[in-house]
Amino acid sequence: MVDKWHKYLLGLITISFSNYLTGASGEEEIDVFCSDGVNVTLPCINAHPDCRSTHWFYSKDSKTTVALFTEGIKKMDHKRLSLGSNCSLNIYKTTKEDHGIYICRQLNTTDQYTDVHVYLHFLHVSLSSTQTEIKAGSNVTLSCQLYLIDEYSCERLLDKYRFQMIWVNESDVNLQSDSRYQISSSTKHCNSSLTTTLLNEDNNRELRCQIITGTEVKTSDRYTVKYSGNSPSIKNVIGSIIRVIIIIVEFAVLTAPTVILLLIICERRSGKRRAQSTRLSYVNGSESVVLSDC
Ligand SMILES: *[C@@H]1O[C@H](CO)[C@@H](O)[C@H](O)[C@H]1NC(C)=O
Repeated sequence: MVDKWHKYLLGLITISFSNYLTGASGEEEIDVFCSDGVNVTLPCINAHPDCRSTHWFYSKDSKTTVALFTEGIKKMDHKRLSLGSNCSLNIYKTTKEDHGIYICRQLNTTDQYTDVHVYLHFLHVSLSSTQTEIKAGSNVTLSCQLYLIDEYSCERLLDKYRFQMIWVNESDVNLQSDSRYQISSSTKHCNSSLTTTLLNEDNNRELRCQIITGTEVKTSDRYTVKYSGNSPSIKNVIGSIIRVIIIIVEFAVLTAPTVILLLIICERRSGKRRAQSTRLSYVNGSESVVLSDC
């Protein structure tokens, strides 16, 4: 069993190095596009229905490979992974860390195997301007990046799918021809940036970056404009703290005379008692200490 396992792994590494770039015949290559927080299903073609001869491996680059499923059984604690129908790999709530190569290895009766390479590409929109406060009048730049594995060039993917990276608003209107937005894209790096000056009505506006082939949306990620005025700012928080301190000081100043007065009364009373007990001690001929009960 262990030997068999080692053989598959060695085979995998050999194949990884020799075939990532060439896409050797007899192997299927599939591209899957995803963005933050979606569920994806990576297909394994021609798998046996019970998945007992199915292995899934993951590789971020060609140097490291980890086993996710071995003979249909999950390795380690990958909470977001499960096997779907036809032994496909389900990834729940994808993150940027998930992008890379997934290999479905299908063993057959003669100890031979066939591999399916599934490339998971991750699309992400981020705020790239140095602007700290988002408000009407500020200039913002959003950056949309398609993360590929290192060996996979954007040009190669473009050749294969003839896709476009576009920006749309919440009503799916392409913003390319809208003069409010300056859009610049790089097909070499699979990224696109959008710059605009925010208007009053832009609060809660959604700006989406999409990968499309023809009319099909392969994947999409969004940025929602949120004006910072609505949440308590640092200034307000500091103001509240100062107000609380002032109340405490005022309370102390007002109550101090009363407390001092009480202390003086107590002190006088215990002084009298001490005098009395000293007299008593002389009477009894012994010394005693009187503790003030004030
Ligand atoms: C992802 O899958 C979970 C569990 O099956 C489901 O509750 C959730 O709605 C799905 N999320 C999306 C974005 O489809």
